[in-house]
Amino acid sequence: MTEATETPVDELQARLEASRQGGGEDRIARQHAAGKLTARERVELLLDPGSFVEVDAFVTHRCRDFGMESNSIPGDGVVGGWGTVDGRLIYVFAQDFTVFGGSLSETNAEKICKLMDLAVENGAPIIGLNDSGGARIQEGVVSLGGYADIFLRNTLASGVVPQISAIMGPCAGGAVYSPAITDFILMVEDTSYMFVTGPDVIKTVTHEEVTKEELGGAHTHAARSGVCHLTAPNDAACLQTLRDLLSYLPSNNLDEPPVGTSQDAPDREEPELDRLIPEDPNKPYDIKRLIEGIVDDGRFLEIHSEYARNLVVGFARIGNQSVGVVANQPAYLAGVLDIDASLKGARFVRFCDAFNIPLITFEDVPGFLPGTQQEHGGIIRHGAKLLYAYAEATVPKITVITRKAYGGAYCVMASKHLRTDLNLAYPTAEIAVMGPEGAVNILYRRELAAAGDGAAEVRARLVEEYRSKFSTPYIAAERGFVDAVIEPRQTRPLIARALRQLRGKRSQMPAKKHGNLPL
Ligand code: HXC
Repeated sequence: MTEATETPVDELQARLEASRQGGGEDRIARQHAAGKLTARERVELLLDPGSFVEVDAFVTHRCRDFGMESNSIPGDGVVGGWGTVDGRLIYVFAQDFTVFGGSLSETNAEKICKLMDLAVENGAPIIGLNDSGGARIQEGVVSLGGYADIFLRNTLASGVVPQISAIMGPCAGGAVYSPAITDFILMVEDTSYMFVTGPDVIKTVTHEEVTKEELGGAHTHAARSGVCHLTAPNDAACLQTLRDLLSYLPSNNLDEPPVGTSQDAPDREEPELDRLIPEDPNKPYDIKRLIEGIVDDGRFLEIHSEYARNLVVGFARIGNQSVGVVANQPAYLAGVLDIDASLKGARFVRFCDAFNIPLITFEDVPGFLPGTQQEHGGIIRHGAKLLYAYAEATVPKITVITRKAYGGAYCVMASKHLRTDLNLAYPTAEIAVMGPEGAVNILYRRELAAAGDGAAEVRARLVEEYRSKFSTPYIAAERGFVDAVIEPRQTRPLIARALRQLRGKRSQMPAKKHGNLPL
């Protein structure tokens, strides 16, 4: 045995085996007992079978303190390389919690940076599977420097290649800021958490008591903070969702999204949609039924489904072409725009614009949410982000006004005035400065006061008059702000045709270093 391990081939085998074993059987068993897969199992599940090419499997740390000189494991806590997803090139790194808790050492960071550089050079997405105790405590500042090296690369790669983070275990402290810069964050329910300062520090500083799950679990970040875009019940489901997400995205900002393989005819009409929008303008309906009715095979990958539910965003395909859908949701808060919805929409619109994904907007919005909470929270600057994002977007833009398009929200939601290519409206569309009740109260305050007991009757008559004047798409259509008034059933064929027509769209921003998005 001793003789055999002295040959170079055997040494290679031994090192490879050590790398594959990560932190050893006991720690792997603990990882499984915690309901988590190992880094290698995750990479294998993410990529097409047999496509993974590992790099830096022999890398070890350089730490000579705290007994680390005699404690090293090849690979040093991160498994990385490249492979394919649905045949397309992907770069991936997976933090290995079984090796020093997946903590980030100087060399571990170098491995990640090498892959990020390769991803940008070769124009392919970079995926990070996060499961780490944070900065390698034994290494001090060189570990912190490693994080900063990654943050810089995240920033430089932003808008060049898609960057996606799956949080599959701990992700705490400054370590959260790499995923935060990436385009999408997925979290696994019950086993992952993200926070800048953990429950113990919070208790010491503010005396507040909170569990890890409440503070930074998947549900908290999906529904409350909006940090997380997609959740999954376990590791395997998370990796499958990641593959699904990638299927809508191009490999880089100079590339087109992959073409789908659906047999759903682009000119399919959907008669049921003619009955979707209630006659009563104040009655809600589910905008997702409209979206699912018009996209290929009804397949819609909703992003941020639990956060700011008054705005729905997500990916789909129409005529096998990837699209980003943004839609007010009348079934939740009447589809009003508020701070969270503006942030959610703006981020999504900017992603689609950066990566050549046409934007389809469905509009039914009574306006911005009134109230001191919204005003003091900065709805002015946050609402401006959505406006700015739509205005600067140069990808093909198509808007369908299904019902209400009131006030500033009319302008914001990809109106014709913001360089939208095709603006359609249903006959049920109401385009006005505000809703009839509010308008009548302002315009006829004196008449209503003078009407005394008859005020209700007068108001009803005036509301009806206002409605018949403004609750129509035809005034906007006469101006050319709406290109066509269509029946809901025609939505899919018309959008499919418009997408084909817009395939060669060329639209440029004036030369500048960068704009000053109202942050
Ligand atoms: C070195 C670490 C480590 C770390 C965990 N380990 N975190 N080693 N540096 N940061 C090691 C443990 O010593 C242990 O080694 C193994 O990983 C598993 O850890 P356990 O504690 O046994 O696991 P668990 O009970 O599941 O707890 C996981 C944990 C906890 C919650 C992540 O380990 C923990 O609190 N770690 C420290 C977290 C932290 O404060 N990190 C620094 C954050 S600040 P053995 O040999 O026993 O298996 C930061 C700054 C980044 O990251 C700055 C960027 C700008």
